[in-house]
Amino acid sequence: MRPLFLTLMALAGLWFGGGALAEPPVTAMTPVSTAASHSLKPHHGKLGFTCENCHQGKDPKQYQRLKTEDCLACHGSAQKVANRTRFMDANHTNPHNSLHDKLDLDCYECHAEHKPSQNLCQTCHDNTRDWFGPTP
Ligand code: HEC
Ligand code: HEC
Ligand code: HEC
Ligand code: HEC
Repeated sequence: MRPLFLTLMALAGLWFGGGALAEPPVTAMTPVSTAASHSLKPHHGKLGFTCENCHQGKDPKQYQRLKTEDCLACHGSAQKVANRTRFMDANHTNPHNSLHDKLDLDCYECHAEHKPSQNLCQTCHDNTRDWFGPTP
């Protein structure tokens, strides 16, 4: 009787132990709130990216904002991005290849990921809505 009881206790221990082991990863990664406060733009979100696709390492506390090179690691080159919106070259309103800065702007001057994007050009020009749509 006793051995059986002990065995059951052991099994119960294993059972709950197993449950306890299965759970920590969810809380240990903490990001329930981090992931919610760092939602992705629809164009990236629908690709099913994990945090690590853009950020180095596993610890969200260590994450830095991306650099232009990080964007270009996936998007090719500033020229390639400029080509996608080259229909605006004629009037020099291509945000990726402007009169002022050519190909040299940081993506981050306009695009953000976890917060609304902006548009640098708009800080000086009030007619940018005639030039291009909202920054995705
Ligand atoms: C891990 C790879 C990866 C990284 C890093 C990445 N992107 Fe993307 N991005 C993609 C892919 C793939 C698409 C969808 C295909 C496309 O439009 O090129 C996309 C789409 C986009 C789009 C929408 C394009 C459209 O058609 O509307 C924008 C804008 C964009 N990315 C900007 C950025 C910026 C700015 C950064 C840096 C902060 C960045 N991306 C970093 C892979 C990446
Ligand atoms: C001066 C502001 C500005 C900067 C800097 C900028 N973008 Fe953009 N980007 C825009 C705007 C505005 C659009 C939307 C253009 C439109 O469709 O009317 C756009 C669109 C895009 C698109 C979608 C193009 C398409 O096919 O429709 C991609 C991809 C993109 N940007 C990537 C980047 C990357 C990568 C960088 C850095 C190398 C960058 N952008 C820098 C303003 C900017
Ligand atoms: C498509 C690329 C991309 C992915 C995927 C991504 N991030 Fe980011 N992250 C950025 C960029 C760009 C910044 C710079 C700030 C901004 O644009 O919002 C940033 C900044 C951060 C920062 C530091 C600055 C801040 O806002 O506190 C944290 C923390 C962060 N991201 C967490 C996450 C987490 C957690 C995930 C996964 C749920 C994630 N990121 C997925 C691109 C990405
Ligand atoms: C710091 C202020 C400032 C910023 C930011 C800025 N511009 Fe300008 N821009 C000017 C000034 C000043 C002129 C020259 C005066 C004029 O011709 O209106 C000018 C002229 C222009 C012109 C020719 C005249 C016109 O209005 O058609 C274009 C096109 C232009 N800018 C596009 C852009 C684009 C695209 C961006 C974003 C990538 C941008 N600018 C960002 C200040 C700025």
